[in-house]
Amino acid sequence: MTVWLRKLGLHAALGRATRRADTVAVTLRSMIVESERLILREWTSSDFDAYAAMMADPRVMEFLSLTGTPMKRFDAWRSLAGTVGHWGLRGFGLFAVVERQTGTFVGQVGPWQPEGWPGLEVGWTLRSEFWGRGYATEAARRSISYAFDELGVARVISLITPENARSIAVAQRLGERLDGEVSLPHLPADRRVLQYAIERSAWRR
Ligand SMILES: CC(C)(COP(=O)(O)OP(=O)(O)OC[C@H]1O[C@@H](n2cnc3c(N)ncnc32)[C@H](O)[C@@H]1OP(=O)(O)O)[C@@H](O)C(=O)NCCC(=O)NCCS
Repeated sequence: MTVWLRKLGLHAALGRATRRADTVAVTLRSMIVESERLILREWTSSDFDAYAAMMADPRVMEFLSLTGTPMKRFDAWRSLAGTVGHWGLRGFGLFAVVERQTGTFVGQVGPWQPEGWPGLEVGWTLRSEFWGRGYATEAARRSISYAFDELGVARVISLITPENARSIAVAQRLGERLDGEVSLPHLPADRRVLQYAIERSAWRR
């Protein structure tokens, strides 16, 4: 939803406002959404320990970097700062996902589109203790609806290393179809990833 306000010097406080003539457009967007078993929300500093533990897990990291090396705590800090920075720069980003019943952090899922990305991606990473419960698919389904309804995109992609069978299974459960291979700005040119995609017209809620 976009609201036009008369310019009252508000734009500085409302970071995501854009100025036009004597009015200010403020895009109001949910920072928290829910699904049956999960809450998807913006990040707090108290998420960091669980995030760092997730990124230090070799099972989680197997396909997330070139080397598959577990992330050191400092690198996890930088990585989370990048995720939070994406929220600041774009007004949306990967959500911190917590269980509704327990409040436990289970991973990160959501929309993002870093510079040079081939489109708006919904991505997913869960702590390995929470694999096999359908949480990634549930959170991604909610995130794709969010991308179509609140971000207004016509198409959502997911970028997956060909060997990452569990992630491909998530994309397939969501109804995404294989849409070729792409290279990414942070990877060597010969390192291609699979692009899965779904259009708004094909999306079944
Ligand atoms: C990719 C990743 C998120 C997939 O996690 P996942 O747990 O396999 O996927 P889901 O959460 O959708 O769970 C699906 C499984 O839960 C099972 N399940 C159990 N209870 C369920 C329920 N109530 N509802 C739905 N599924 C349920 C499904 O049957 C399925 O089992 P299967 O794997 O034996 O077929 C996870 O492996 C991960 O975080 N990997 C590391 C990071 C990564 O590589 N991310 C992707 C980058 S492209």
